[in-house]
Amino acid sequence: MCGIVGILSNKEVTPTILDVLKKLEYRGYDSAGIATIYNNNIKRQRAKGKIENLIKLINQNDLPGKIGIGHTRWATHGIPSEDNAHPHHVGSVVGVHNGIIENFREIKEELSQKGYKFYSETDTEVIIQLCSYFNKQGLNNKDAFLKTIKRLEGAFAICLMFKDDEKKLYVTKRSAPLVIGYGESDIYVGSDAVSLTNLINKVIFLDEDDVAIISQKETEIYNRIGQKIKRKKKSVEFNNEVINKGNFQHFMLKEIYEQPEVFTYATSSFINFKQQKIDMIHKFNEFDHINRIILVACGTAFYACSVAKYWFEKYVKVPVEIDVASEFRYRDNSFGKNEYAIFVSQSGETADTLAALRKVKGKVKKIISIVNVIESSIARESDFILPIKAGPEIGVASTKAFTAQLAVLACLTIYFSNRRGLLSKKENSELIDSLVSTPRIMSKILSKTESYKGFAKKLMKSKNALFLGRGILYPLALEAALKLKEISYIHAEGYPSGELKHGPIALVDENMPVICFAPYNDLFEKTISNVEEVLARNGNVLLITDEKGYCSLSSHEFPIIKLPKFSNFIEPIIYAIPSQLIAYYTALFKGTDIDQPRNLAKSVTVE
Ligand code: F6R
Repeated sequence: MCGIVGILSNKEVTPTILDVLKKLEYRGYDSAGIATIYNNNIKRQRAKGKIENLIKLINQNDLPGKIGIGHTRWATHGIPSEDNAHPHHVGSVVGVHNGIIENFREIKEELSQKGYKFYSETDTEVIIQLCSYFNKQGLNNKDAFLKTIKRLEGAFAICLMFKDDEKKLYVTKRSAPLVIGYGESDIYVGSDAVSLTNLINKVIFLDEDDVAIISQKETEIYNRIGQKIKRKKKSVEFNNEVINKGNFQHFMLKEIYEQPEVFTYATSSFINFKQQKIDMIHKFNEFDHINRIILVACGTAFYACSVAKYWFEKYVKVPVEIDVASEFRYRDNSFGKNEYAIFVSQSGETADTLAALRKVKGKVKKIISIVNVIESSIARESDFILPIKAGPEIGVASTKAFTAQLAVLACLTIYFSNRRGLLSKKENSELIDSLVSTPRIMSKILSKTESYKGFAKKLMKSKNALFLGRGILYPLALEAALKLKEISYIHAEGYPSGELKHGPIALVDENMPVICFAPYNDLFEKTISNVEEVLARNGNVLLITDEKGYCSLSSHEFPIIKLPKFSNFIEPIIYAIPSQLIAYYTALFKGTDIDQPRNLAKSVTVE
């Protein structure tokens, strides 16, 4: 996490660095800072909290310079404070860093024994101290930088400047994102390409352990064994309109309302309307021999994988293993040559998911990634990329990316099922039709939000909440609980409805809101029995069901939200919308920071 930026220009850089930092704020917002070099002096301003605080500071104290670096922090080592804020500065070196230096204690110890004093609790400071030490030992800037990087273990993207060199940026990356962007006359470094929208038209994506020394004249790049190499500049195109809130109060709300359109867009790459079938850009030649599918992701993306497990098992009849990446990467798991591994990630940069992908490389038949950012590391390291095309998701809590991930996974389900000859023509058409009808149903739900607001007004007073779902709705109960806790800070748990009686029911009393997802399907009656158990203990039930479910209930004496009619296949996609609305309005009424909830960041590039 953390966002970094560097600019080499012919004009003042501070205003642009601030603009880019605002766009990178999704990566962390515990503190922010900028350093420039002006007349061979390092100038620096840092502030605790969001970029706004830094802007206020800079408005009072000018930060001149035509070369500069900036940082927005998600704290890993050391509390959010000005001392721990980047850029860090020692001697003639100043730098910013995203990632974790795993051997920082060892280096700190060595330097401390040589008499070096540390002013912060960060791992980043050791990079700067070490580089400054090598500088003082007589190494020139380039050699000091290279020697420093050789000592570092962990994951990092680094951008440094040296006081005596107003013309160069020194950068490197290992398991953390970093791009070099080229504009008309200026050169940029950034944690992602989107933050450099409007500034660049060409970009270089560095490979692992590449080191780049960037000047206006040349970008010198060295690979991990120190050979000078060339990396291709690629053209980039941006759709500018999407990165503003429009008339919405929050990015999250805008993104919730974008879902009908995003869903259409996500499925349109796959649905062949003329032949009423699902097409894939890739041939998946090996699929006929595949005997297991492994799905790995983190957070909300993991819940998308959990839904896919139900779909793949039901329609593709293939064994499926799912796991959260942080567990998967360290487990003693075994893989087979006839397996597909699918990695799902909005950002495509999540460190645990990337590490899990690297773990299976060469051990499974093929790696598929389902990502929003197609230039991301996870996409670049997989055999097949299936883009979700959700557009930039700025709200930290994932909404439209989740339903777009489900869109792609649903298309994959239908495609794989047909490849195995498991769907009749009629079934195939019904499944495709249900996907086509999804945006309309989403819009219908989004056009009437009064009942969600009414429920949220009560929920905001609670300290806890339980979400229940059965079968394919169980992952949605988990996702709804995650959404609520992330943005409203209310403690929430998701449970399979049938598990309630094995423990959690002890929590149920008149103060416990229990939100139950009950679409009218094979498990409806069983779910309603679980609701009865909660009602019998005075629990505060909110039932979310559909028209059929509503009509078949014998009692309507508790709050019920009735959804329109839709097919069973798309249940998990449709229920995502009520989950998001409940969380959003609860947070809104509580007055929390919805787009940037405390302690979180959008792209989790640390372990
Ligand atoms: C929750 C949320 C996170 C992400 C998770 C994975 O609202 O956004 O749980 O889903 O950090 O991120 P990606 O999809 O970028 O790998």
